[in-house]
Amino acid sequence: MSDAAIITEPFPMRVHRIAWEADGVISIELRRPDGNDLPAFAPGAHIDLHLPNGITRSYSLCGDPEDRRCYVVGVGLDPASRGGSLYIHNQLRVGQVIKISSLRNHFPLVEDAVRVVFIAGGIGITPLYCMMRRLSRLGHGFELHYAMRNRQRAAFLAELQALGQPVHVHCDEEHGGKPIDVAAIIAAQPAGTHFYCCGPSGMLAAYEKATASLPEQFVHVEYFSPKQIETAGADAHFTVVLGRSGRELNVPADRSLLDVLTSNGVKIDSSCQDGICGTCEVRVLEGVPDHRDSVLTKAEQAANKSMMVCVSRCKGERLVLDLA
Ligand code: FES
Repeated sequence: MSDAAIITEPFPMRVHRIAWEADGVISIELRRPDGNDLPAFAPGAHIDLHLPNGITRSYSLCGDPEDRRCYVVGVGLDPASRGGSLYIHNQLRVGQVIKISSLRNHFPLVEDAVRVVFIAGGIGITPLYCMMRRLSRLGHGFELHYAMRNRQRAAFLAELQALGQPVHVHCDEEHGGKPIDVAAIIAAQPAGTHFYCCGPSGMLAAYEKATASLPEQFVHVEYFSPKQIETAGADAHFTVVLGRSGRELNVPADRSLLDVLTSNGVKIDSSCQDGICGTCEVRVLEGVPDHRDSVLTKAEQAANKSMMVCVSRCKGERLVLDLA
């Protein structure tokens, strides 16, 4: 299983500060109401925000990992928002108390890499900003390629430039709408470079293609919208066995595993329900999952030790999960 959750049960946090960062991007600083320190986090970690409108959404932490007083997230207003970013932009207020949970990290930083190149698109800058702060503190160099539609949308740009490392900005509108050339950036780097990418689906598809022949340990990626997953034929029903109780449940072809589990009283945290946040990760005891998430690496998927039950299914007829 990926890095274990440090926070499992939701706990209250006060909205301490909301700041405008760029067109369509705000940052939210959260502190504990009792003023105590928060659990430590590493760059690449994210938390779930439990919003008062009943929606739970994951956001990458972009603040200083050394500052234990607060967690900071950057939130881009999604034009297709289903109520998460829309609520945060339009209704969340300073002083409000909301709950957070699931401090997790599926996007860890290799701190001793010799050469590091970051490629960010839009709000995908947030986890990478945190990583760059960390490398700066360690005295390590890096290079950033930061793409956005136009300069008004360049969140945290001044702070990134102040870190004193090369920052290459690509505004699509300044290039006739042409996106950043991810393949050219990757091809120009020497062997052994660690690449980190977070951005919209088109950028990540270009990134996956350009890095396909590189060893997996040098290629790091985080999705905030689901990958296009090709499935082999129509979905089929299967049986899920709760390994700790022996209870068996049928998962019909037209229902998700998460839906079947929760509707039968099995307690599982979930957030995105799109296979991108990692909140619903469950340990697999037997059977072969049909992985459809955008969180686990290829090696983690091949190991079949855990799965995201919101989107993944079963390649056979029976799965045994580490659930009661
Ligand atoms: S709920 Fe986000 S990966 Fe399953």
